[in-house]
Amino acid sequence: MAQLIDGKKISSEIKEELKAKVAELKQKGIEGTLAVIQVGNDPASSVYVKNKKRACEYIGIHSKSFELPEETTQEELLRLISDLNEDGSVNGILTQLPVPAHIDEKEIINAISPKKDVDGFHTQNVGSLAVGQEGFVSCTPAGIIELLKRSDVEIDGKHCVIVGRSNIVGKPMALLMLRENATVTVAHSHTKNLQEICRTADILIVAVGKRELITGDFVKEGAVVIDVGIHRDENKKLFGDVKFEEVSQKASKITPVPGGVGPMTIAMLMNNCVEAMDK
Ligand code: GUN
Repeated sequence: MAQLIDGKKISSEIKEELKAKVAELKQKGIEGTLAVIQVGNDPASSVYVKNKKRACEYIGIHSKSFELPEETTQEELLRLISDLNEDGSVNGILTQLPVPAHIDEKEIINAISPKKDVDGFHTQNVGSLAVGQEGFVSCTPAGIIELLKRSDVEIDGKHCVIVGRSNIVGKPMALLMLRENATVTVAHSHTKNLQEICRTADILIVAVGKRELITGDFVKEGAVVIDVGIHRDENKKLFGDVKFEEVSQKASKITPVPGGVGPMTIAMLMNNCVEAMDK
C-alpha cells in the first residue's frame, strides 16, 4: 500500500511559513493586498474566490474583491485591471476563470501587469518559466513540486510522465519538471499507447479531467502518482483522474482526492502574493 502524500498538512505548513513572513514584512512597513475579480456568479468560482479571500485573511494580507455582473464588457474589465495595475497599494491581481464567453480570456490575462500576475498566467511569466528566468509560476504545478520535495521524492534524472497539456497545469508542469532535471514526457488526448507510456513513469502526474482514467494497469510498481483531477458524483462523493483503490496498491507514494493537490493551489497562490509584496 502506497504512502499518502498529505496535501492538507503540507499546505498548512506552507501557510504557517507565509504567515510568519508576512508578519516580518509588516514590521518593515510592507503590506500586501490581493485584488480578486469575478465576472458573473458561477457557483464553483464563487467558492474558489471565497477560499482565496479566507486564505489572505489567514496569512495576514488584505484582499479586495470585485464582483462584477455577467454583462460586464471587455472594456469595463480592462479599465478595472488598468486601474489596479496603477494602484500602488495592490500587489497582486487575479481574474477568476472562466470569464463569460463574450470576454476574451487571453486579452484579460495579458492585461494584468506581469509583476502583479500572481496566477502566473501572463505570457511573459510563462515565457520566463520556459527560459529559466524569474517570474510567477502557475499555482497548481508549483504546488505539485512542493508536494514532491516535501515528501522526499527525488526528481533529478527520473522519468516523469504528465498526462494533460493545459496551459494552467500540463505545460507549466512539464517546464517545472525539466527545471528539476527530470526526463519529461507529455501525453494527451492524441497520444497512442497511453497505458504503455504511463507504465514507464517513475513519477506520473495526471491532469486530464477524466474520472478514474488511470487504473492499476497504467502504473509501474513503486511509481509516485500525483492526481490533479477532481470529479463529484451525484452523491457529492469526490473522485480523481486516478482509480485510487487500484493504483495505491502499486504506487510507492500517492496523493488522495480530496486532500492531495487541491489544497496546494491556494497555498501557492498565497506564496506568490507574498513574493509580490517584495517586488
Ligand atoms: N479557475 C480555475 N483555476 C483557476 C486558477 O488557478 N486561477 C484563476 N484565476 N482561475 C481559475
